[in-house]
Amino acid sequence: MKDHQTIIVIDFGGQYNQLIVRRVRNQNVYAELISADSSIEKIKSYDPIGIIFTGGPSSVFAENAPSVTKEVFSLGVPVLGICYGMQLTAHLLGGTVIHAPVREYGRQKITYSDSALFAGVKKENYCWMSHTDQVSALPEGFSVVASTDTCKIAAYENKDKGIYAVQFHPEVVHTLEGNTILHNFLYNICKANGDWKMSDFVGEQIKAVREKVGDGKVLCAMSGGVDSAVAATLLHKAVGSNLTCIFVDHGLLRKNEAEEVMSVFKDGMGMNLIKVDAKSLFLKDLRGVKEPEKKRKIIGKDFIDVFSAEAKKLGKVDFLVQGTIYPDVIESGLGKSAVIKSHHNVGGLPSVVDFKEIIEPLRSLFKDEVRKLGLELGLPERIVNRQPFPGPGLAVRIIGNITKKKIAIVQDADYIFREEIAKAGLDKEIWQYFAVLTGMHSVGVMGDERTYDYTIALRAVTSVDGMTADWADIPHDVLATISSRIVNEVKCVNRVVYDITGKPPATIEWE
Ligand code: XMP
Repeated sequence: MKDHQTIIVIDFGGQYNQLIVRRVRNQNVYAELISADSSIEKIKSYDPIGIIFTGGPSSVFAENAPSVTKEVFSLGVPVLGICYGMQLTAHLLGGTVIHAPVREYGRQKITYSDSALFAGVKKENYCWMSHTDQVSALPEGFSVVASTDTCKIAAYENKDKGIYAVQFHPEVVHTLEGNTILHNFLYNICKANGDWKMSDFVGEQIKAVREKVGDGKVLCAMSGGVDSAVAATLLHKAVGSNLTCIFVDHGLLRKNEAEEVMSVFKDGMGMNLIKVDAKSLFLKDLRGVKEPEKKRKIIGKDFIDVFSAEAKKLGKVDFLVQGTIYPDVIESGLGKSAVIKSHHNVGGLPSVVDFKEIIEPLRSLFKDEVRKLGLELGLPERIVNRQPFPGPGLAVRIIGNITKKKIAIVQDADYIFREEIAKAGLDKEIWQYFAVLTGMHSVGVMGDERTYDYTIALRAVTSVDGMTADWADIPHDVLATISSRIVNEVKCVNRVVYDITGKPPATIEWE
């Protein structure tokens, strides 16, 4: 028997496809995104309580327009078409879709009529539109349940068949009461019972992992980042000492980070965690290397060498744990462009470790869900809410060649920056913030002495997924304290600058 109900979200390539899944899960109903070319057998295998069609950039008239088998409408399961999903539904069932003369984009006034979909929603309202094509005539048996000035059929339904469709995007916050509309679809129309909860997920996963692993030996590469930390903790709860974690200290971590990882996971939790001190190897191999991509390659290779040498000491293992999360799966599985995939520095491990099977306990979770799971498992908030940290670590925050001294400078400056941001209560608002050691020297004066020292750049950005970012508007008094502490407390730094470039055109990291 399945442990929870499922909503299937069929992906027609719209930019909000993942958002729909998240909105559904946030209402305690499990949802999964599947590709538009999935077979009816695959759709049935989920035994869904409802199906949602996403929007998408195509026109139903386009030659290779994504479509879905008409059989989905005869499964006896409610369907909600959104935007392109609405047009496709009409198109497949005998309605008419036209190329509208004007594109309707942005927030629009909308009028809802009586429909189970709009129960409890204000009739005169605002929604978010983004379309050119629109439905001009409905299939037989359907009726219009919402209109805007330029889009007479902004929503339609066939109550008996359980088919609903909206031209606007209820998943976007600009559609007022969009969550209520989705809630109505889930709870009134699909009769969801709200059985998707993180606490249940923990129990289910622990049970499933225990059954799978039995007495087997499990290995995990622990980076200290959120995903690997949560995956390892879950495995530890499930199989205890059958799990061994290897943590490679490449010496390019933030100040005190290696110690913190050991204290939380080994001392605090009793995890079987091996720290490999490989600082000198990395430093030796990076000596004199200035080119950012070359640095990344060396670090990636050394990491795999060190990890596999350590893993070999354990002999053959049965399972290898990876902290893959849902956005990674969607990107690779549905052929979408990769986001930050190439950065995954443990991607090469499966080829060098002798194991039978991979375990990916976070495969179905979004980042915010991974964090919730971490808290549920008892991990401290400071670990769970960590900002993203690149695999090559401080190597890409030291411009030019890397030395022990430069690592210490950037670590100390970064520590002060983080401390002051936390003191100012800004650590939750800012997505990522760190210090960069620029390769530049400039003239300064300290006391009566002329100095010729390094410039530290502060980088702080707000972002949703790291794909695009704005520089964070940190109050001047906070910046002033950080700057003055850095020049006073960190040797060899006489100047601090603040990076005010967005992404694009700059990247978040400096290298
Ligand atoms: P950029 O600098 O490309 O960064 O704008 C986007 C996000 O990715 C992180 N990043 C990396 N993560 N290995 C990683 O694991 C890398 O080589 C790497 N480079 C950048 C960066 O910190 C930001 O969150």
